[in-house]
Amino acid sequence: MSFPTDRPRRLRRSETLRRMVRETRLSVDDLVQPLFVMSGQNVRREIASMPGQYRLSVDRAAEEAARLADWGVPAVILFGIPEHKDDSGSSAWNDEGVVQGAVQAIKQAAPNLLVITDVCLCEYTSHGHCGVISQGDVSNDLTLKLLAKTALSHAQAGADLIAPSDMMDGRVATIRRTLDENGFHETAILSYAVKYASGFYGPFRDAAGSTPQFGDRCSYQMDPGNALEALREAELDLEEGADMIMVKPGIAYLDVLALVKATFNRVTAAYQVSGEYAMIEAAAHNGWIDRQRVILETLLAFKRAGADFILTYYAGEVAGWLRNDK
Ligand code: PBG
Repeated sequence: MSFPTDRPRRLRRSETLRRMVRETRLSVDDLVQPLFVMSGQNVRREIASMPGQYRLSVDRAAEEAARLADWGVPAVILFGIPEHKDDSGSSAWNDEGVVQGAVQAIKQAAPNLLVITDVCLCEYTSHGHCGVISQGDVSNDLTLKLLAKTALSHAQAGADLIAPSDMMDGRVATIRRTLDENGFHETAILSYAVKYASGFYGPFRDAAGSTPQFGDRCSYQMDPGNALEALREAELDLEEGADMIMVKPGIAYLDVLALVKATFNRVTAAYQVSGEYAMIEAAAHNGWIDRQRVILETLLAFKRAGADFILTYYAGEVAGWLRNDK
């Protein structure tokens, strides 16, 4: 039966009706807030290419975390901006490092808030690559040991979930083994399983000072043309013991997100990355888009495509909106 009997508009006639038949909804439970932490006291320094986002000292990060927890945000993910960088990124596994300190302070300030730590070396290496360099390229196997050490020190500090974002082969298995050998069987791994070599990370690299000093990340992050390879990456990480997987960036890879979710039906996250944030902010600042509407529409798109949760710089702000809606 079709027109004139069938009229889909009948179910769009009022907001109440639309609300009743809506297939996908956004909830505060879906949102994870990334935080950039640095050394010092009482520091809150705005990131030029990410207006509204800040580099926070540990004390300020703990305050922010407590506020997020109050608003119902379930988790934060921490990125460290260390004082010292070197060839191997040794500040990453320093037990007194900025991320380790922030994990402890946040766990004290907001015990029920989940703390996820990003595990990667690019913020800590002087050359800005995600691993150690050998013969002009990032050495996969040498890097694995350092990632495992970093993950272990995060777990020892109290991290609930470890999120490796480096894209080395075998890192989930190596990290899982190291955590288990040290008694951290319950510390979960959220793997950045499907991470593309993307121009959308530009503002993040500004924030973290992690732009590669030579070359690019194309020998370890994925080629944007590949979707079948995403299935292989996700499969390997799940086999190696990932508890959850992620697809990143977000809006330009919704097809991949939907494919990965439909194929494995495992907990799958999306990351609305820094460049996506910056584009929305820039257009909104110019009055070219309705900021709130576009933010909510993009977050809903991730859910519709199959994301179980979303890492987004808007988590805290959107939590406030959703709360006021009730
Ligand atoms: C670390 C890492 C990056 C992001 C998350 N973890 C940067 C990169 O790979 O260059 C990007 C996050 C964002 O752009 O918001 N490897």
